[in-house]
Amino acid sequence: MQLIICEDSQEASLKASEIVIQQLQNNPKTVLGLATGSTPIGLYKNLIDAFKKGKISFKDVVSYNLDEYLGIDRNHKESYYQFMHTHLFNHIDIKEENAHLPSNNLATIEQDIKAYNDALSKTKIDIQILGIGGNGHIGFNEPGTLFENETFAVDLTEQTRLDNLRFFNHIDEVPKRAVTMGVKTILRSKKIILIATGKNKADAIQKMIKGPVTTALPASALQKHPDVVVILDKAAASLL
Ligand code: GLP
Repeated sequence: MQLIICEDSQEASLKASEIVIQQLQNNPKTVLGLATGSTPIGLYKNLIDAFKKGKISFKDVVSYNLDEYLGIDRNHKESYYQFMHTHLFNHIDIKEENAHLPSNNLATIEQDIKAYNDALSKTKIDIQILGIGGNGHIGFNEPGTLFENETFAVDLTEQTRLDNLRFFNHIDEVPKRAVTMGVKTILRSKKIILIATGKNKADAIQKMIKGPVTTALPASALQKHPDVVVILDKAAASLL
């Protein structure tokens, strides 16, 4: 793992965007794996900025998102579909048909998951962006989930629901289930950039880098990948 420790979250976003911008300039047909959460918002802002300045284009870029909530509609303001449109897709020239997110249509979820896996097995993600949950989850691969999983439906832990409560009015509104790329899918990416900022990520980051590879801390699976860049601010790196 390559470790980059930054002064603050702004610098972490800058470092991550430099890598993505270079990739898009080298290969305009890049396949991106995208993440939600507050962490990558700064990266997406920088990508929008680079697009507006004419440095990069997304017209031939294909993207696959890591995860999506089950139990709320795509029109819900906290769906990851809305998140991606608000924070990135609405501001760049990516084609709607090239920007993929896992389905959250309960009526067709099984065949939709299969179709997502089929599409992902036929392509290769060039750069997968990742954040990390306070309990070491990546995407929505919660502690205990098997590393062999491809995209699947998952029950969210109480900690993850509490972590995400800040985006909802009441805990009862926070979805209990989600669809996520599995660890196996994530590890198939050519390159992975994991960004973590803030003290509440320090423990998970320490275990991810220095601890054993264990399903108890899903992000530790990244130790098995040959090209992972971990970009941290000082607070997230404070227990290393
Ligand atoms: C959610 C997402 C993850 C993300 C995590 C951390 O659980 N499914 O992909 O990494 O939140 O979010 P934040 O960046 O807001 O701390």
